[in-house]
Amino acid sequence: MDSISVEAYAKINIGLDVRGKRDDGYHDVRMVMQTIDVCDTIVIKKREDGIINVESDSDRIPEGSGNLAYKAAEEFRNEFNSEFSDEFEDWEFGVDIMIHKRIPIEAGLGGGSADAAAVLKAMNILFNTGLSRDRLMQIGSRVGSDVPFCIFGWTAFAGGRGEKITPLLGFPKVHVVVVKPLDLGISTPKAFNAIDNEDSIYHPDIDGLVEALHEAAPLNEIVGFMGNTFENVMIKQHPVIGEIKESLEENGAVKALMSGSGPSVYGLFKTEDEAKICAGVMAKKYKDAEFFVTKIR
Ligand code: C5P
Repeated sequence: MDSISVEAYAKINIGLDVRGKRDDGYHDVRMVMQTIDVCDTIVIKKREDGIINVESDSDRIPEGSGNLAYKAAEEFRNEFNSEFSDEFEDWEFGVDIMIHKRIPIEAGLGGGSADAAAVLKAMNILFNTGLSRDRLMQIGSRVGSDVPFCIFGWTAFAGGRGEKITPLLGFPKVHVVVVKPLDLGISTPKAFNAIDNEDSIYHPDIDGLVEALHEAAPLNEIVGFMGNTFENVMIKQHPVIGEIKESLEENGAVKALMSGSGPSVYGLFKTEDEAKICAGVMAKKYKDAEFFVTKIR
């Protein structure tokens, strides 16, 4: 096999609590993460000359070494070379990585992390290296805090700086409308800085949320525990986020919440029809926004 094509799925945060800043500059977080059906497609080809080359059909993400997918390929090679260095002393492989981008960037949907995770999984297959999922997650944690979750997928609790993953019972398979204001991107480090500058911040009940999922509680009960520390802080800076959230709930969402550090907001719906009707009404109002009608994976 000389090339492989894989899908890289976006995530939403069902719950996100920022606890405090650590000595290493990161923040301790407690999150409930969920994969959704929006994805990038990544094609990876072997190269004989040791070069890692990243290209994309989007002009909004960096090509080459500035891309998380590049960092993932490099970390994979580092791991492989240290593990097998006695056997393959000078063995240097390379890859061509082509990213077909659909997940919006700086959106709170984990697009860059999803691409990096997909590269690690794909290279493990392409080079027949047989690294375990835990091992891939360890390599992923060197690439970015959300990468281990993206390797794991489905529904999970993420602690530490986001890299410590515990599986959870699946979130109900509801329909999701994701709204991303087109000209608004939020950088994660800036969002964490904004939280550091707040006098008091909201802490959602993540234990309650985890318990509700564990008991397979009905959706109406689960949504009562959903919350995101970043939400109020980002609504203050970008009121459109709050307007979109209200609009989703006025148009039938059982619950709407900002994902990650924003600005994407998603609404949950029991049926696909309800999701489509809401997206149709809102698309007329928010012409400067991108809409995805999708579902929980
Ligand atoms: O881990 P990652 O490289 O994705 O993080 C990007 C930046 O986001 C970090 O350099 C840090 O500023 C911030 N961050 C944080 N706490 C986390 C995750 C990320 O402060 N738990």
